[in-house]
Amino acid sequence: MFTKDTIIGVVGSGAMGSGIAQVAATAGHSTIVYDTNNTALEQSKKNLTISLNKLVEKQKLTTEKSQSIQQRIKFTNQIQDFNSCGLIIEAIIENIEIKKTVFKELESITNNTCVLATNTSSLSITSIAASCQKPEKVLGIHFFNPATIMPLVEIIPGIATENNITIACQTLINSWGKTTVLAKDTPGFIVNRVARPYYSEALRIYEEQIADMATIDWALKEYGGFKMGPFELMDLIGHDVNYIVTETVWKQFYYDPRFKPSLTQKRLLEANFLGKKTGRGFYDYREGKRMPEPKKDEVLAKYILNRVLCMLINEAADTKYLGIATTEDIDLAMTKGVNYPKGLLKWADEIGLETIQASLNQLYNDYQEDRYRCCILINQMVKQAKRFY
Ligand SMILES: NC(=O)c1ccc[n+]([C@@H]2O[C@H](COP(=O)([O-])OP(=O)(O)OC[C@H]3O[C@@H](n4cnc5c(N)ncnc54)[C@H](O)[C@@H]3O)[C@@H](O)[C@H]2O)c1
Repeated sequence: MFTKDTIIGVVGSGAMGSGIAQVAATAGHSTIVYDTNNTALEQSKKNLTISLNKLVEKQKLTTEKSQSIQQRIKFTNQIQDFNSCGLIIEAIIENIEIKKTVFKELESITNNTCVLATNTSSLSITSIAASCQKPEKVLGIHFFNPATIMPLVEIIPGIATENNITIACQTLINSWGKTTVLAKDTPGFIVNRVARPYYSEALRIYEEQIADMATIDWALKEYGGFKMGPFELMDLIGHDVNYIVTETVWKQFYYDPRFKPSLTQKRLLEANFLGKKTGRGFYDYREGKRMPEPKKDEVLAKYILNRVLCMLINEAADTKYLGIATTEDIDLAMTKGVNYPKGLLKWADEIGLETIQASLNQLYNDYQEDRYRCCILINQMVKQAKRFY
């Protein structure tokens, strides 16, 4: 279906669109980037040059290759320029109505064989596809930020997507040097669903004044091996993005308390304390401000890690139980998409499912909240003395 001659279209020249275009052009495709905003197009072109120059400086790319990549990317504000594309990846604003309008237009200007993909983080692929005459040609291809660096791409067929389209897209993206995983079209797909407790359970521990944020961040890095603590990570992602994803996933799961957002984070968003990019978030990044010191208490650290980790494993187990993805893909997604030190289901085997079940049951008994219910799969596996691997 796709060859090196397939022209790739990218809608939206923001952070994600620019990165995806660079990846496609680096893989040898003629690539067209379209945006309605000329300033965004100009910025994207500049950023591409900066990004490629850096690679040349680091000797990861030759000057000739960098020039040929730049020549392969065309920037346009005319959607008609997409008419000979074989695959178009949409990366515009996260708004379902705007995306649906764009997909309708894309379908009307392309030929029958063109595959249309969305890079949405949290919207329903099936719903976007339903705006098209041929929803079988529409799917989700979800890159992570920055797309040039993060190896993971989630491939998400909608309920009408033809299987051969899904396979062809997965093969193509693999050939671009990415690691792909297959996910069912459900809120947050794999990563943005399974990772929720990393933030929400940390926020809960903080709100309950069990520990301050510096201590929680330290505990998860020091005892869990996570590269960044949840608070510094939320500050880096930005609360406009991180809070909205949490809220969207929660609403789409019919307000399941397991995904409930935090008021503490909402207030930061309301104050425009968006994190590192605005100078203030959970931490204060303004000049002259000192970062708070953690309380280095091993017992407390182990409590924090155990609670967050059990909730993460519970979510990973539920994702497996509901057939959203395979055991291997869930672990691959979390290690390659958010740099977790280990796959959560492999980690579960190491800790022992009985231990995890006991911790979750303890939390459930203490709090009397549905949020802490143990996944049925863990209960079944404990009974049958089974492991994930
Ligand atoms: N930023 C992330 O971390 C991240 C990660 C994975 C997926 N995503 C998803 O990727 C998509 C894009 O996110 P982003 O962070 O690159 O956004 P962004 O705001 O950086 O860029 C969006 C671009 O789309 C353009 N645009 C808006 N409406 C348009 C239209 N109708 N036609 C053409 N262009 C239009 C805007 O001018 C802008 O340049 C979203 O769906 C988001 O959920 C984002």
